[in-house]
Amino acid sequence: MIGEILANVRPGHGTIDRRIFSDESIYQVEMDRVFTRTWVFVAHESQIPNPEDFLTTYIGSDPVIVWRDKASAVRVFLNSCRHRGMRLCRVDHGNAKSFSCSYHGWTFSSDGCLAAVPLFKQAYHGNLPREQLGLFECPRVESYQGFYFACWDEKAQSLANYLGDVKWYFDIMAMRTLGGLEVIPGQQRYRVPGNWKLGAENFAGDNYHAPYTHRGALEVGAYSQEPGTVLRNEDFGDFTVAFENGHGLIDIPKPGARWHGDKYIADAIGKEAVEYLQELRNVLQQRVSSLQAEIFSIGVGTIFPNLSFNDFGSFVGGLMMVWHPRSATESEIWENMLFDRSAPKVIKDIARQNFTFGQTVAGSFGADDMENTEQITAATTGVISKRVPFDYSMGLGHDGKTDGAPEGMPGRVGDFYTDQNNRNFYEYWAQLMGTPTPRKP
Ligand code: FES
Ligand code: FE
Repeated sequence: MIGEILANVRPGHGTIDRRIFSDESIYQVEMDRVFTRTWVFVAHESQIPNPEDFLTTYIGSDPVIVWRDKASAVRVFLNSCRHRGMRLCRVDHGNAKSFSCSYHGWTFSSDGCLAAVPLFKQAYHGNLPREQLGLFECPRVESYQGFYFACWDEKAQSLANYLGDVKWYFDIMAMRTLGGLEVIPGQQRYRVPGNWKLGAENFAGDNYHAPYTHRGALEVGAYSQEPGTVLRNEDFGDFTVAFENGHGLIDIPKPGARWHGDKYIADAIGKEAVEYLQELRNVLQQRVSSLQAEIFSIGVGTIFPNLSFNDFGSFVGGLMMVWHPRSATESEIWENMLFDRSAPKVIKDIARQNFTFGQTVAGSFGADDMENTEQITAATTGVISKRVPFDYSMGLGHDGKTDGAPEGMPGRVGDFYTDQNNRNFYEYWAQLMGTPTPRKP
């Protein structure tokens, strides 16, 4: 059955078997072949700034603790006691020198070591290989520009290689700050009745939906820089860029195309905002190439498999989303806002407003998108509907081709409207799914 479904995942032909969004056996295989072999985002450095800070999250279906040890190294452990599997930490974040398991009391320190065992002498007769019973640790944890990723495959390529050319764009986002990026404390989490890939692929490559799905938000002038102006979808950017390993960005603008509305910014926010924007442009010019500085924005995108961004094109800050898989037909979305630590208060206030009103559970864009996810799933799990493939044929034969892209933009730069990034996402997904994970003896 899995083989039959995978044979019908044919991004190169513009069709994909829709059972990959609902079949439980496909889901189980992708938890193994996708989520144990790729670099999965686990934390931003500002969420765990101090030694022994921690947060809990998931890599696919596995709960993990992301914990800075005493020496400030970020480590990732399976959040499951080495004794009988109890979930060790049951809070979202904090600071701890150690965790004691609430089942029998085994205690683990921030370097993962089994530091204490109740009744060690009496019950174990002082005989337990404690050094072998530390927390199960993820062998690879690496960061790029303050974003930490983990990978269970100890032989995996480096994170830097895995990100590849997407780093060129990532640098624009990370370096366009005066004081570094910071995650605003607090996180929105919500469950959606739909497969995790629906969200991840939408952010990787779907400009096409915005004028229809988000028509209401666009008509009331969301994100418009000029009063009374309704943004057209194309105003969000010009290019779609696909990368190795399934990553994709959309809404990349032509150099100099964004954030020219200084008069509106002055009228709507104040002179301070215009000055701040100018400072950002200046620092960016010094830190990256002039082409990167003129592009200024990375728009929307997905780092394969399940980390997405939205609206880092806005100079006030951006949104980070993780599509956590929960079952074949359910996912949980975790969202955070990031902004420049040194931005003036007025900018941070706008960032919070944008976050709340935009791509969040109660925001106009978020609610629109979740409606799609829910209704696609409802219309995709029937006996007959499962047999009818999805279409991904937009721009077939034109991948990596577009007019007007400047020389020097890395990645496969395509048109604004194209399915090239969705095809790219599923090509890598299918490649991983078709190769069994080697097991240690
Ligand atoms: Fe954790 Fe027993 S399961 S101490
Ligand atoms: Fe959307």
